[in-house]
Amino acid sequence: MKRTLLTMLSCLALVTMFYLPNLQATEAPADMTIQPLEGMKVTKAPVDFSHKGHAALDCKACHHKWDGTSEIKGCASEGCHTDGANKKGDHSFYRAFHDMKSENSCLGCHRANKGKAGPTKCNDCHPKKS
Ligand code: HEC
Ligand code: HEC
Ligand code: HEC
Repeated sequence: MKRTLLTMLSCLALVTMFYLPNLQATEAPADMTIQPLEGMKVTKAPVDFSHKGHAALDCKACHHKWDGTSEIKGCASEGCHTDGANKKGDHSFYRAFHDMKSENSCLGCHRANKGKAGPTKCNDCHPKKS
């Protein structure tokens, strides 16, 4: 009897250990404002982004390098879109959001859906600075 209880308790502990971090990894954060890279030359207003407004999409539609289990990282994490000077290239910060050829990017996905998905005009995302 005692042994059964112990077994059950350790099972519970294991489940908690493995399940809780996963829950955390798949919880999308609240609305946010996406900021340009530190130190980069800025020409536009920062962009508001709503995870809730994109809840119908798979996380990997945007977090395209995510392995499905580890913690999700931002676009400008080390080794990712850290190049603020170039509009092209794998590491381009600009490209992460505007690549017309990739549906991982804001503009690419919105354009592919012919504007029915989300805004495609510069000022719709970058409100004019007043
Ligand atoms: C679907 C939303 C969206 C649209 C449409 C969009 N952008 Fe962006 N843009 C972003 C996001 C997100 C960033 C990254 C955050 C930031 O830097 O403000 C960004 C950053 C930038 C940057 C680098 C940062 C800066 O302020 O200089 C430039 C330049 C830029 N966008 C220009 C444009 C131009 C030009 C257009 C129209 C052709 C455009 N964007 C359309 C979302 C968008
Ligand atoms: C439509 C695109 C899109 C989808 C879908 C999406 N995200 Fe995001 N997520 C973003 C953007 C953009 C950021 C801001 C990254 C930045 O500031 O560099 C972000 C940031 C995050 C961050 C914070 C990362 C950090 O440390 O800065 C987490 C965590 C996250 N998302 C989790 C999720 C999860 C979980 C899902 C699926 C339920 C999801 N996201 C779906 C675009 C998306
Ligand atoms: C893989 C496709 C996809 C990507 C990538 C994507 N979007 Fe969207 N976006 C959508 C869809 C679909 C809608 C329409 C959602 C709805 O109206 O129910 C939308 C709607 C929007 C809207 C208007 C509604 C709202 O939620 O406020 C904004 C603003 C927006 N997206 C910004 C962005 C920005 C900024 C990024 C990049 C950081 C981005 N989107 C990336 C598919 C995408």
